[in-house]
Amino acid sequence: MHEPRSGEANALFLPEVATLVAASAMTDRDRFLEFKLDNRELGHLPGQFVEVSIPGIGEAPISISSSPTGTKGFELVVRNVGRVTAALHNLVPGAKVGIRGPFGTSFGLDQCEGKNLLFIAGGIGLVPLRSAIAWALGRRSAYGRIFILFGCLDPSQRLFTEELERWKTDPSITVLETVDRGDSSWHGNTGVITSLLPAIKDRLDPTAARAFLVGPPVMYKFVILELKNLGFQDSDIVLSLERHMKCGVGKCGHCQINSLYVCREGPVMTYESIIGHREAL
Ligand SMILES: Cc1cc2nc3c(=O)[nH]c(=O)nc-3n(C[C@H](O)[C@H](O)[C@H](O)COP(=O)(O)OP(=O)(O)OC[C@H]3O[C@@H](n4cnc5c(N)ncnc54)[C@H](O)[C@@H]3O)c2cc1C
Ligand code: FES
Repeated sequence: MHEPRSGEANALFLPEVATLVAASAMTDRDRFLEFKLDNRELGHLPGQFVEVSIPGIGEAPISISSSPTGTKGFELVVRNVGRVTAALHNLVPGAKVGIRGPFGTSFGLDQCEGKNLLFIAGGIGLVPLRSAIAWALGRRSAYGRIFILFGCLDPSQRLFTEELERWKTDPSITVLETVDRGDSSWHGNTGVITSLLPAIKDRLDPTAARAFLVGPPVMYKFVILELKNLGFQDSDIVLSLERHMKCGVGKCGHCQINSLYVCREGPVMTYESIIGHREAL
């Protein structure tokens, strides 16, 4: 995995100005925001995050959702849960924010060439995984089959619906969705995300695949158990850990689990590397 690879030393500690280019509602609590740094390109890897600040309000770590290639800006999806995220929801195009980063480790897709890729996203976990999926699709011939499993609370909480539908039309990608609670508009699977695994297990050779999971902590426990039952090695299960973070650069200790600084050694880690840290999951 990678050290933070910010091009500028300043980006570690000093926010740089970015402009909001586009914004739209994704659900009743999630907002899509596209930013562009005023003075350089972000230069991130899938899985990394930025610290977004609003003067007088605060700063929050937010995953980068866009692929590093193909656009000069970068995309975020922000769930409104408190002070900073509410302020981000109120921004209109042209607004300025502070950005530090990119920080943290990446999904390491460059080390997966020739493998089948299994992406498992719970709720807002699709946000960082979308960056990885877009990266993999941009290098389609480097990978085998791509499986995308997405689960959320109910149909109104689905994210990136147009992309999900577009990926479903590609015969080399298997996209399966589930919701915890269906409604009259929903004709798909209902149940937790592990209920999707039986449908793909015969097409997925665990010795030639790597699984990438991002979702709520409760999801990890059950998905990891199922993946291990399918035959996945601990080193082929990659997940993103979310912890309270402040500095993002290994200085404040907010994200610390024993000797592990999630902001520097994570957020993306293999299951193998966190087994010794029992509080991590
Ligand atoms: C690496 C990383 C990537 C993230 N990516 C995203 C993303 O892509 N989109 C997104 O919407 N959010 C993301 N988050 C979570 C986001 O950082 C928090 O929701 C945000 O910091 C809350 O700030 P606030 O000022 O709005 O809320 P506050 O006013 O600080 O808090 C509101 C409530 O949320 C709780 N809270 C605050 N931060 C966290 C946290 N990190 N984990 C759990 N509970 C918390 C507080 O205890 C409080 O109850 C990410 C977090 C990390 C560490
Ligand atoms: S967020 Fe400060 S040490 Fe990790």
